[in-house]
Amino acid sequence: MPQFSFSFERCPVAQLPAEIQMLIQAAETARATAYAPYSHFKVGAAILLSDGTTLRAANQENASFPAGICAERAALAKHNLNGSETILALAISYLPHSGTGNQPLSPCGICRQSILEAQLHQGRPIAVYMCSPAGEVLYVKDASLLLPFHFSSAFL
Ligand code: THU
Repeated sequence: MPQFSFSFERCPVAQLPAEIQMLIQAAETARATAYAPYSHFKVGAAILLSDGTTLRAANQENASFPAGICAERAALAKHNLNGSETILALAISYLPHSGTGNQPLSPCGICRQSILEAQLHQGRPIAVYMCSPAGEVLYVKDASLLLPFHFSSAFL
């Protein structure tokens, strides 16, 4: 039977390269801009571009729940896919509240598909850093690892 497996890494934030630690700090800072009156779950995302620029955003909810947007896609919306800069990495972080544990934050399925769209468009891998409030980071060097059997324009 065919099987699928992939590699990921898990380490304390302090062991990551300085530029990634700064990216994670940007994601943590971005949490403060979350509008999450319904879930009370504040998520921050930060994108590192090839020119060194950082784009940051947070989740923005809506009384009509499906109209809300996750931090990851809010950050991606700030990026111009037609521009010359590529996305090197994306970091995500959440603020703990009662009821949340201490697991690294794992992006939802729609966000994985959106990150992958950017990766496929630019033709270069996007590393994804998923952070826990306590500073433990789970990461993959290639966003496609997070979404096997993804939908793509090849079907259209
Ligand atoms: N959320 C994110 O922003 N990113 C994720 O990776 C998971 C979930 C948001 C959406 C919603 O505002 C809240 O967290 C609860 O689902």
